[in-house]
Amino acid sequence: MSKKDFISLRDFSKYQLLDIISLAKEVKSDSQGLRDYMYGKHVGLLFEKPSLRTKTSFFIGAQQLGANSIYYDPEEVRLGKREEVRDVSRTLSQYLDAIVLRTFSHRNILEFAGFSSIPVINGLSDFCHPSQAIADILTIIELKQEVEGLKVAYIGDSNNVCNSLINAFSVLGGNFYIATPQECAFDQKIIQEAKNKFNQSNGSLTLGVSPQEAAEGADVLYTDVWSSMGSEKEAEQRKKIFQDFQINGKILKKAKSNCIVMHCLPAHRGQEIADEVIEGDNSVVFLQAANRLHAAKAILMFTCDK
Ligand code: CP
Ligand code: NVA
Repeated sequence: MSKKDFISLRDFSKYQLLDIISLAKEVKSDSQGLRDYMYGKHVGLLFEKPSLRTKTSFFIGAQQLGANSIYYDPEEVRLGKREEVRDVSRTLSQYLDAIVLRTFSHRNILEFAGFSSIPVINGLSDFCHPSQAIADILTIIELKQEVEGLKVAYIGDSNNVCNSLINAFSVLGGNFYIATPQECAFDQKIIQEAKNKFNQSNGSLTLGVSPQEAAEGADVLYTDVWSSMGSEKEAEQRKKIFQDFQINGKILKKAKSNCIVMHCLPAHRGQEIADEVIEGDNSVVFLQAANRLHAAKAILMFTCDK
């Protein structure tokens, strides 16, 4: 049987995504019942960038399913520097049953997956963050029952988190509005491909709107940091470019009164989100964080299924 990777949500159909979400709901409601699902297996975590949620949720998630987790110090492995990606990939395939990778370059994940004989799970790259989007969709479905028909407004940077949300909504439906400064570029391949999928899923993708237009009547407001890991040097310049793209009290007032406010975290209060909003009644950021664990377990089960 060929291995199943989890690298980008572009690779999955609506039904495969819904299967992963169903697994996440199942593990959430029955955390004890699946504790031997990965009994005796070994899951590696190789992260080139910092992580709190992704590292912890895959580490503990694997253990709750009966597997052992091994965390590699990135300075020890120095992927592509001490040793070529393809050699690390083929070596770790001899010992592990799955690996979660967080890399600067998405190409490294693709190369790793191309040479490995074990499932490769993307724990964030510069291009996408699919495990976050699974937790986000789980959160939205828990609170709003379904995605179809919702207005979701993303205000901020056209980054990895945004790309995975585009992929998810393109097959699940929903009306996704994205407000970014003009300086933000989108990968046109993603947009074109997503637009075709949105057409088939009764959803829509709207780009180039103001934060106010995006937020008007929204069911969900979402934001992420203005400078992602790896672009810290641009942080000061980006603060100026993004200054009007903050989710604050005024923006929240434009949305529906029962709108949920989402952020993948870590958050920078006073930049992409105002303190009063992230701490306010509409914020669901810690439910999202909690759901990372259930999403991680579902992704491990999906990729390592028996
Ligand atoms: N949201 C998220 O991926 O958080 P970490 O970077 O802390 O893993
Ligand atoms: N866009 C952010 C997400 C962090 C979880 C980053 O890549 O740093």
